[in-house]
Amino acid sequence: MAHMSPTRNDRSRIPAGSLQRPIVGDNGTGGLELRWDGDRPGSGVRLDPGWLARQFRGGRLPRRQPLAKAIGTGVASIVDATGGLGEDSLLLACLGWSVTVFERSAALAALLDDGVNRLRQGGDAIAAAAARISVIEGDARLLLPSMERRPDVVYLDPMFPPKRRSSALPPKAMQLLRALVGDDPDAAEMLALARTVATRRVVVKRPDHAAPLAEGAIAEHGGKLVRYDVYAPVPPPGGQVDARPTLRERGRET
Ligand SMILES: C[S@@+](CC[C@H](N)C(=O)[O-])C[C@H]1O[C@@H](n2cnc3c(N)ncnc32)[C@H](O)[C@@H]1O
Repeated sequence: MAHMSPTRNDRSRIPAGSLQRPIVGDNGTGGLELRWDGDRPGSGVRLDPGWLARQFRGGRLPRRQPLAKAIGTGVASIVDATGGLGEDSLLLACLGWSVTVFERSAALAALLDDGVNRLRQGGDAIAAAAARISVIEGDARLLLPSMERRPDVVYLDPMFPPKRRSSALPPKAMQLLRALVGDDPDAAEMLALARTVATRRVVVKRPDHAAPLAEGAIAEHGGKLVRYDVYAPVPPPGGQVDARPTLRERGRET
């Protein structure tokens, strides 16, 4: 596949005069990767099971970690509306959930799809998890309202404020991602929309130092560097939602 330069949806923030620009291109072994233009193929980043593969025994990760607690119990379907490099989608799938991923950057969506397909070939527990992920290119603000079946949970991980060093993604990946897609100034708008679509809850990942994306979180689950804020759905007219905080959440466990 030829290099994919930033597209219209890749609101690239490449500093004026910078020689480096991000591209999605062939990694030299038939797959795709995100790297700086001019770097050698194979030096970029792509969906990498990394630590997950090492910890993933028995085909499912234990649901003790903050992300799993934030998603809650009795959940069947999750939309990850901010796909990025797919690390969080893969984690959710490894935790046993089926995940539909939206990504509005065409280049990133192609990278993500390539990564998921590669992992599916593995024949291991990660492959089974990757088989639970579906990648859809497009803007979640358009895709969410058009879903045939409303998802139980919508998960959001918009780009954090620039200063942060708290992403699960390594710094190089974060730099490339930011250079490719820029910030997500419409994140609060997406949260408001997601709350009208999710039937059980919306989970927003934030750096531990950052203010919530919106007021009114019903629970928060803290990790080492990030926090997951939980929002109740906004009930459709005449409809019902099951957004009760769990017993632990009532105690605001962090
Ligand atoms: C911080 S990254 C997500 C990282 C991801 N959680 C991971 O583990 O790799 C945010 C991503 O969300 C995407 N995004 C932001 N708003 C979006 C929207 N309305 N629809 C689809 N994708 C969106 C951006 O293009 C960017 O790739």
